[in-house]
Amino acid sequence: MSLVAFPFKNEDPEVLIGNVKVALSHPRVEEVLCVGASEDRCFTALAEASPKLEKEHGKPVKVIVQERIGELRPGKGDGMNTALKYFLEETSYRRLHFYDADIVSFSQEWITKAEEAADQGFDVVRHYFPRASTDAMITWHITRTGFAILWPESTLPWIEQPLGGELLLSRSVAEQLLNDERVRRQSDWGIDTLYTFAIVQNQFSLYETYIGVGKLHKLYGKLTDLKTMLIECFSAIQSLQGERVPKGGTHRIEYPGPVPQKVREKIGYDVEGSLSLLAEGWTPRQEELLAYFPDKVQEGMLACRSFPRFGFMDEDTWYRVYQILLEHFDPTDRDWQELIFRLWLARVLEYTVTVALRGYDYALHYLHQMVSRYAAQAFGKGG
Ligand code: LAC
Repeated sequence: MSLVAFPFKNEDPEVLIGNVKVALSHPRVEEVLCVGASEDRCFTALAEASPKLEKEHGKPVKVIVQERIGELRPGKGDGMNTALKYFLEETSYRRLHFYDADIVSFSQEWITKAEEAADQGFDVVRHYFPRASTDAMITWHITRTGFAILWPESTLPWIEQPLGGELLLSRSVAEQLLNDERVRRQSDWGIDTLYTFAIVQNQFSLYETYIGVGKLHKLYGKLTDLKTMLIECFSAIQSLQGERVPKGGTHRIEYPGPVPQKVREKIGYDVEGSLSLLAEGWTPRQEELLAYFPDKVQEGMLACRSFPRFGFMDEDTWYRVYQILLEHFDPTDRDWQELIFRLWLARVLEYTVTVALRGYDYALHYLHQMVSRYAAQAFGKGG
């Protein structure tokens, strides 16, 4: 029997309450836990609604505020780790499911598919979704790229959506994660990276289940919305770079189905709005930091101060830039934060106009091949 947890922060309470009902109606679910970042409007609405939900379904619905467990920015990591703690200390259920609170396409099928894979003995089940060719730009250019460069022989680079917040953990996995100092520390957006990493490093078996309806949720506008997430996700990988991960491991991926037209046509971010960000906010110190990078990166980025440029940030150049960032990036330094954001922006724009423009199928094939090429290049070099 299972516990379903929804970490949340300022979500639309109607959407979240709807998702709680979906979970409560599932025969495998014994209890639902909602972990709020603070006592915001959504928290209050949920706390008010919970007695009625409990009565209707005859199952407990807990609404709690996340604990301060980690050491970095208090964020999603504290929320997920609070749920782990609750699951292990307050309950004896066998499985814990996590789902993002803002999903409008959530259904019982998501729970059923995860439970069925767990019934076959998989320790961890991750949901993956069709995503637009210009969405998932942190996943592809930061997380999967980093996994390929640093641990090319492990299963890490081949995990479809390593930052996804929808997953099932068996009790032993939850125990392992909560006992892991590195996981507890990661209170911010880096938590998904840490869970994924620790699961693979500990050789738990992993099943990725495909959810064809896609994950319809709030949209990102300008890429600045993703800045904090980008910095925290890169920094999480950087903090792990000295770690060793065993080769291979049990990893099965459910074959994907046809991608809905809506997803194929969707534009993942505001391209025009993002162009101007290349030119804004430069400081003399950032210009100096560019000296770490190859000449064409240095020259190209400096030229951005007067006109957006990004053609130089191709796949091979990004590999080199990524290695330099692994060595020198300082996540606490404001100038490095701005610089990594702009370097990544140049990579995303270059990919958009040279690859994504050619169409959905071309782009998705390219991205998967790109990860393979990065891993092949890194193979045997120890990163
Ligand atoms: C990603 C974030 C943007 O997967 O959703 O890259």
